[in-house]
Order: sequence, then C-alpha cells, then structure tokens
Amino acid sequence: MSILVTGGAGYIGSVTVEALRARGLKVAVIDNLVYGHREAVDASVPFYEGDIGDKELVSRIIAENSVKACMHFSAFAYVGESVQQPQKYFQNNVRQTLDLLDVLLEHDVKQFVFSSTCATYGEPQYTPIDEQHPQQPANPYGWTKLMIERVLEAYSAAYGLRCVALRYFNASGATETRGEDHFPETHLIPLVLFAALGKLSHVSVFGTDYPTPDGTAIRDYIHISDLAEAHLLALDHLRNGGNSDAFNLGNGSGFSVSEVIAAARRVTGSEINVANAPRRPGDPSKLIANAEKAARVLGWQPKITGIEEIIASAWKWHTEHPEGYK
Ligand SMILES: NC(=O)c1ccc[n+]([C@@H]2O[C@H](COP(=O)([O-])OP(=O)(O)OC[C@H]3O[C@@H](n4cnc5c(N)ncnc54)[C@H](O)[C@@H]3O)[C@@H](O)[C@H]2O)c1
Repeated sequence: MSILVTGGAGYIGSVTVEALRARGLKVAVIDNLVYGHREAVDASVPFYEGDIGDKELVSRIIAENSVKACMHFSAFAYVGESVQQPQKYFQNNVRQTLDLLDVLLEHDVKQFVFSSTCATYGEPQYTPIDEQHPQQPANPYGWTKLMIERVLEAYSAAYGLRCVALRYFNASGATETRGEDHFPETHLIPLVLFAALGKLSHVSVFGTDYPTPDGTAIRDYIHISDLAEAHLLALDHLRNGGNSDAFNLGNGSGFSVSEVIAAARRVTGSEINVANAPRRPGDPSKLIANAEKAARVLGWQPKITGIEEIIASAWKWHTEHPEGYK
C-alpha cells in the first residue's frame, strides 16, 4: 500500500515524502513541476509528472501503487498573484482538487491529509489564533483553501471520507537534504538569506509602524521537519479511526521581521541591508498560532522552535545549494 503525495516535488511535500519513507512507508508522487523540482524527489520514488486534475493519470497511479491514503500539498500559493489572477487559483486549487477527490472516492481511497493555511482566518480578531477563530479569508488564495475545507467536511459527512486539514503558519527552515527553492521567492527567511549571500542587494521590510514592540510585523515560523512530523501523526490519527478534523500548526510564539533579520545577521555573520517600505495591503500585524489542539489530539510537539536554529538550518541548505536544486 502507498500514500499518494500531491505536490511532492515542492518544498513541504518533498520533506514529508522523506519523512514517510524514513518511517518505512511507500509513497507515490504526482507533481506537474510548475513550481516543484524533480531533484527534490529521490529517484527511487515512483514519480508521475502531471496535473492532479488529470483523472486518467491519477486513476493509473492509484492502481499501479495500491494507494490507500493521500496527502494533498499541491496548490498555487502566491497571495498577491491570487488577487491579480483569481481564476488561476480557483481553477488549480479548487477545481483540480475536486477532480482529485472524485478519483480518490471512485477508488475508495478515504484517508486524506490536506495542506490548509492560517490564511483561511483572514485578519485576526485575537491572537494566538485557535481553530475556533472565525474563518474569513482576506484574499482568493485563502478562499481556495477554505472552500476545500468545506468540501472535505461535506464529503466526510456524505461519503465517509476521513480527512485532516492542517492549517500551517509560516513554513521555514531546511533538512540536511531538502530546502526552500521557490521561484519567485516571497518568503522572508529565504529572502533575508539571499541578501546575506549577495544574491539580493537588500531586504525590503514592509511596514515599520505596526502596533508591535519594534513596529514590524510578527509571524509564527514553523520548521519544516516539525510540519512533516505533524503529517505522519495526522495519518496515524486517520489510520487509527480518528474523525475528520482541523488543526493549527505553529510554534505558538512569534518573531518580528526585525527579529528575523537580526537573527539572520548573527547566524550568517553578514551585514544584511534593509530598505523600509510601506505596509502591504492585507498584511496583518501579528499572526501567531495556538496549536494546543494538535498537541492534545495528535500528540504533536514542535522540536525546532528557536528562530536562530530555524534560520541556521536554512542557511546551511542555501550555502550548500546557492542555485537551489539546479
Ligand atoms: N510554504 C508555506 O509557508 C505554506 C503555509 C501555509 C500553507 N501552505 C500550503 O502548503 C502546500 C505546499 O506549499 P509549498 O510551500 O511546499 O509550495 P510549493 O510550491 O513548493 O509546492 C507545491 C507543489 O505543487 C505542485 N503543483 C501545483 N499545482 C499542481 C497541480 N495542479 N497538479 C500537480 N502539481 C501541482 C507545484 O509544482 C509544486 O511542486 C500548498 O498547498 C500551500 O498552499 C504553505
């Protein structure tokens, strides 16, 4: 029996594929490589290049690999682009996921772990954000994820699908072999490290007048190995007969943009030039997770929680892979 990993050539998917294999589980990966990297998936893993909305291909993968569960990472995830090109996001993240679910149900594959996001909450009404916080996304990307959460609830009730939606906060860091290689890159930590490597002249700090101690926005950074571990626990939950549910995944502590840059200066020993810029529309001042439910129900505890430790793992990967996977 295998686990189908969609988007397994991407950042979080590729690390989770390695974690599943380290557990002795069999995996099959589908990725269209629009943003992923073939090199991020070990050559010994059955790999299928294509769209999750290609029903014939997904049917064949399930049959060839005796797929019994699915971890669904594939999506487009650029918030700004989703505002400019919502069609691209609803087509890819919603329509293709509906197609994927059709084929999974047809083949009686009823264990499903979904990559959701803190962007489903929108502007925080309080922090730390727990799972009861109202979900009112502030952009089309967040809506695509929330729509799929609602689809999963309805399919769970009607068709016996059992699914775990994992609402990640900011995925970050690297393992010994897998790291963050997005193009274009929009995440703070890799951008700061690109500046340290001299690949960027400076880092833009969007907003220095937030109601936070140093005026810059605060985010909850969660290490990629801890995220991968949460997926294994979510799968255990489903295999042990657990109900469909949703969990936040974050450290429960936040770091400001200025704190991240200061930590990166200490880790890299580089002067990192900064240019202050206005706030970006829709960027909340503070996003911090309350992940107590994941601890209580799944037994999940993040292990790499210090910002320097997270950045050091990413720095090691970027210095060893200055051109990413290429
Ligand atoms: N990176 C984060 O901080 C973060 C935070 C919250 C949620 N998420 C979610 O986690 C998931 C993984 O994020 P990531 O950072 O690893 O992104 P990523 O872009 O590195 O990985 C996504 C992968 O999916 C593939 N893909 C996209 N559409 C596809 C399709 N229709 N068919 C087949 N393959 C397709 C891409 O080629 C890519 O390899 C996404 O669903 C994202 O929305 C990420």
